[in-house]
Amino acid sequence: MKIGFIGMGNMAIAIAEGWVKKGLVEGTDICAYAPNQEKLANNAARIGFVPMASAKAVVSAADTIVIACKPYQIEKVLTELGTNLFGKAIWSVAAAWTYETYEKQLSGIVGIDDSVRIQCIMPNTPAMVGEGVFLFEEKNSLKPAELTEMKRLFEGLGVVIPLPTELMGIGGYISGCGPAFVDMFMEAYADAAVKYGLPRATAYKLISQTVLGSAKLQQVTGEHPGVLKDAVCSPNGTTICGVAALEKAGFRSACIECIDAIVNKRKG
Ligand SMILES: NC(=O)c1ccc[n+]([C@@H]2O[C@H](COP(=O)([O-])OP(=O)(O)OC[C@H]3O[C@@H](n4cnc5c(N)ncnc54)[C@H](OP(=O)(O)O)[C@@H]3O)[C@@H](O)[C@H]2O)c1
Repeated sequence: MKIGFIGMGNMAIAIAEGWVKKGLVEGTDICAYAPNQEKLANNAARIGFVPMASAKAVVSAADTIVIACKPYQIEKVLTELGTNLFGKAIWSVAAAWTYETYEKQLSGIVGIDDSVRIQCIMPNTPAMVGEGVFLFEEKNSLKPAELTEMKRLFEGLGVVIPLPTELMGIGGYISGCGPAFVDMFMEAYADAAVKYGLPRATAYKLISQTVLGSAKLQQVTGEHPGVLKDAVCSPNGTTICGVAALEKAGFRSACIECIDAIVNKRKG
């Protein structure tokens, strides 16, 4: 399978580099176009994919096209590609683009049936280290064998979770935007560590492993996070003091309001 990326920014690099590093796809089976050709060439040399001079060149060299530019750029890209898309499978990683959006956009250009097949996914950047989350919109038009192969490639970079179209938005806010929120939590926690004497580098090492370990413990045991929290809060102990302070500072409601803010932005 020849895979062509249109756009080779943060997300595309996370995916392409992940595939190549894990040996799931040969670098020479990946090509990509992005307007900044110097940056593209540097990334190509580092990762091993083939840089292309135009989106049309990508489409003629690949049978599977990954749309990885910004959502607002896609309409123009699809219009310019037009009937060149005939016969291709499109994997889209763009936020807020669903099967239906593509269907509408492509209806005047080329039909979504056997000619152009679509699968929208919502990825996140931990894909780069094989710990990504990939939300697959359940509505898609890939052939069964194509879907199986796509799932295999993304499962190599993390976890694939199918979702109905109406839940792709909220799912994406949690897993797509989530790394930024977890990073903020780690940074804030490190500030406290530094305030009380831990060197910054040691603080990040300790905190990132604590986040990783706590996540793994929850995944492996399947326990409710509240049960795991209770297990480390001894009566009259130090941890429960910290829990109470977090509650007083509105930690829980800050997390919920963070998602409210995104939902409201999308509505407005
Ligand atoms: N980053 C995330 O955590 C994340 C998570 C989930 C989904 N996504 C989705 O992934 C997509 C890419 O996001 P990103 O964070 O990777 O953005 P990014 O780093 O800004 O990358 C955007 C890429 O698109 C290229 N581009 C710009 N104009 C183009 C055009 N007309 N035709 C083709 N390519 C063009 C850019 O090239 P130049 O650099 O040369 O301008 C760049 O390679 C978005 O649709 C976003 O919704 C991202």
